[in-house]
Amino acid sequence: MRAAYFVEPDADRPAEAIRVGDIDPAEPPPGWVEVDVRAGALNMHDIWALRGATRGAGTRPHVIGSDAAGSCEGRDVVVYPVVPREPDGKVVEHATLLPDAGHGVLAERVAVPAGHLVPKPGHLSWSEAACLPTAWLTAYRMLFTKARVEPGHVVLVQGAGGGVATAAIGLATAAGATVVVTSRSPEKRERALALGAAAAIDSGARVPQLADVVVETVGPATFEHSTRSTRAGGTIVVCGGTSGFAAQLDLARLFAREITVHGSTMGTLAEFEALVAFVAAHRVRPAVDSTADLAGVGAQAARMLAGTAFGKLCVSLS
Ligand SMILES: NC(=O)c1ccc[n+]([C@@H]2O[C@H](COP(=O)([O-])OP(=O)(O)OC[C@H]3O[C@@H](n4cnc5c(N)ncnc54)[C@H](OP(=O)(O)O)[C@@H]3O)[C@@H](O)[C@H]2O)c1
Repeated sequence: MRAAYFVEPDADRPAEAIRVGDIDPAEPPPGWVEVDVRAGALNMHDIWALRGATRGAGTRPHVIGSDAAGSCEGRDVVVYPVVPREPDGKVVEHATLLPDAGHGVLAERVAVPAGHLVPKPGHLSWSEAACLPTAWLTAYRMLFTKARVEPGHVVLVQGAGGGVATAAIGLATAAGATVVVTSRSPEKRERALALGAAAAIDSGARVPQLADVVVETVGPATFEHSTRSTRAGGTIVVCGGTSGFAAQLDLARLFAREITVHGSTMGTLAEFEALVAFVAAHRVRPAVDSTADLAGVGAQAARMLAGTAFGKLCVSLS
């Protein structure tokens, strides 16, 4: 079967480590089923894997990808990408992704735990559905489990064009929050407004109103602005750091305003089911930057590295 994989990671040129070709499908372990993948999506996690910076399963060649939507025994499904245990039954740590426990999912056919399939919302294309497993699940947990966003809350989303950021805009808007975004790019600010954001400002600019909740995925480049823009008693939720991991923290502002900072990673199967139900009920549509075929995965990864995408970088396997 055809798949996107790497044989040797490349710390300096990760997109160039990607190969596309035939690999032997693995036999599904007991309790796992096979999914015919129709679309996948890329995440920063794939870049870290291509750099050799993730734990990884050590398989070579190693199929990349955490996000997939496809068909299984006549059902259209999206795949919950977190594994509680490896195929041999060994329990793994919280939030281990499929490509860190075995092969990833950017392949024509993949084996996944049978209980990890959730019906695909009918209003979504295959590419849109493939956005849900990682970025959208992460945004869902950040907003609703960690920050307990409610209608009327002001939610500040840093780095408007990112996969998690665009998910946060869509989910928070559908939940009745007022969303303010930052972006370095005027074009991305315009597109965020079209997604439902109430205001879009330049990175680091003064916010129109202090936020109840800040969605932080960018890291050192925006973190000081995040603390500056949070109201007294407000919450900052952090799931990553596209610009790095060592941020300056103004402790005086943190304690004086009694700001709560949460870390957040992926989500539970119950949260994934709730996310998919929320997306179906509110007819939310993920922002897809572009969809390439399998041969274009390297170019999609290069676009992610360039930071120019707005929304998810998808891959069609139909
Ligand atoms: N913990 C988890 O479970 C989890 C899950 C998913 C992702 N993550 C992490 O979350 C982070 C975001 O992931 P993603 O997939 O959303 O990434 P992405 O799509 O690549 O997001 C990139 C965004 O970051 C902003 N950005 C990058 N460098 C910046 C800089 N120097 N200054 C200001 N903004 C900058 C850009 O915003 P503008 O161009 O609009 O300014 C860009 O749109 C990554 O670190 C990823 O590893 C974690």
